[in-house]
Amino acid sequence: MTSLTLVDTDPAELAVDAVVVGVYAHEGGDAKLLLASGAESVAAAFSDRPGGGLAETLRVLGATGAVGEVTKVAAFGAVTAPLVVAVGLGPEPAGAAPAAETLRRAAGSAARALAGSASMALVLPLSDRDTPTDEELTAGVRAVAEGAVLGAYRFAGYKTKPAAGRRDPVRKAVIHVPDAGAKAAKAALKRSTTVAAAVARTRDWINTAPNELRPPQFADSVAAAAAEASLEVSVLDEKALAKQGYGGILAVGLGSAAAPRLVRIAYEPAGATRRVALVGKGITFDTGGVSIKPAAGMWEMKSDMSGAAAVAAAMIAIAQLKPKVAVVGYAPMAENMASGSAYRPGDVVSMYNGKQVEVLNTDAEGRMVLGDAIARACEDEPDYLFEVSTLTGGQVIALGKRISGVMGTPELCERVRGAGERTGEPVWPMPLPEDVRKGMESDVADISQVNSGMDRAGHMLQGGVFLSEFVTEGVQWAHIDIAGPSYHSGEPFGYWSKGGTGVPVRTLVELVEEIAAER
Ligand code: BES
Ligand code: MN
Ligand code: ZN
Repeated sequence: MTSLTLVDTDPAELAVDAVVVGVYAHEGGDAKLLLASGAESVAAAFSDRPGGGLAETLRVLGATGAVGEVTKVAAFGAVTAPLVVAVGLGPEPAGAAPAAETLRRAAGSAARALAGSASMALVLPLSDRDTPTDEELTAGVRAVAEGAVLGAYRFAGYKTKPAAGRRDPVRKAVIHVPDAGAKAAKAALKRSTTVAAAVARTRDWINTAPNELRPPQFADSVAAAAAEASLEVSVLDEKALAKQGYGGILAVGLGSAAAPRLVRIAYEPAGATRRVALVGKGITFDTGGVSIKPAAGMWEMKSDMSGAAAVAAAMIAIAQLKPKVAVVGYAPMAENMASGSAYRPGDVVSMYNGKQVEVLNTDAEGRMVLGDAIARACEDEPDYLFEVSTLTGGQVIALGKRISGVMGTPELCERVRGAGERTGEPVWPMPLPEDVRKGMESDVADISQVNSGMDRAGHMLQGGVFLSEFVTEGVQWAHIDIAGPSYHSGEPFGYWSKGGTGVPVRTLVELVEEIAAER
């Protein structure tokens, strides 16, 4: 992982491979560029160049200041660093610093563009005043640090020979602040290092080939990482699951030669007054089962364990950040395969909480394993329960590839939305309508797994409604459907590379810290 440090020396004198400054798109469309604050001394060093200074040079090079745009300028001795990199920040916000997400994306784009370099300094506007407040400093340092580390992220992969032209991620990121000794800046950097590592760990799990991460291996990997963070871990194997009545997890696992697991991870600090439960879907591969998926794009279903990965990694970050709140994480893991032993449409499954579920489509496997895990998590009597899953294609249709859906108790949904907004992982509240529940009445069991006529209306909502049946009365809960945002299939942009994104690790950590501060 890229290392992070703070620095307060003059950017023009920084001994790094590249100094990154911000540039705003000038309003009015006259192609004029505006250098962001922090760039003053670098600009001054370029001012006596024949033909114009830094802003003019950038303009000639075609810079527009669009968010994440990267323009490189050779310094040729003007400043200590051999390279000056201008990263676009969009139009200058009036009387404010750029939004945290803009800084995060800009830092990510700069980090990607500087692959192959040993070091870069990020000199970006954290505030619109000379001395930022602690809040501005915290938000700014977090955003820049997270963007830099995550933009530089790369999955190791399996190539026997490195791809032609491959350059290693930038090793060292130095963040320029007014005072490198400031407590708030140091604390923000430390937290970002922890959180970004958790996001990277999530991405690694997601990007791992599904033949290398079947439920027993995934459980071992999670258990080892959690134990290393001094968390208490227990793993139920197929025998224990059968003995304790985890019908949903077992049903989905039936089709695979690799048996299912339920991982429980506990963080229980002394003096905590509140309890939080985190639950994440851990389908290590989703073929759809007997209700098999089309072949095209099926490989992306290796990411169907993104929720479990996010929960496990968030637990590790929480163990390192040590908030005063008890947190228990659950990751039900299974591989949804089609085989002679697989569960089938028409099956009635007896779930962990005793409810009888009629299976209509084996591809709605997530809710089967989650129903059990949510019911189990409720036995710990949490005040708040957050469940994260790549649950429905309906989420992608409704909200797209960047915005997750959240369903549950309205107040908690609103808190998730707020935390997502602050961390740059947008989430939008969705309802749990009565008519959708009515449509899930089964002829033979307590509830159908999906609409009994297989009507796809309110597709994402059906998932939320089904899961609500497994939440104990009185528990505040939120189901976050991350089907779209968990995995990025397009070209890299900002701090997202192709593959797992690590959404919503930052939101989960933020929520847990917010609850810890509540008391
Ligand atoms: N894992 C999928 C949902 C998914 C779709 C995640 C696209 C990421 C991208 C889930 O298990 C699934 O197959 N859902 C079905 C449910 C349906 C059969 C009721 C779906 O969304 O089509
Ligand atoms: Mn499925
Ligand atoms: Zn699935």
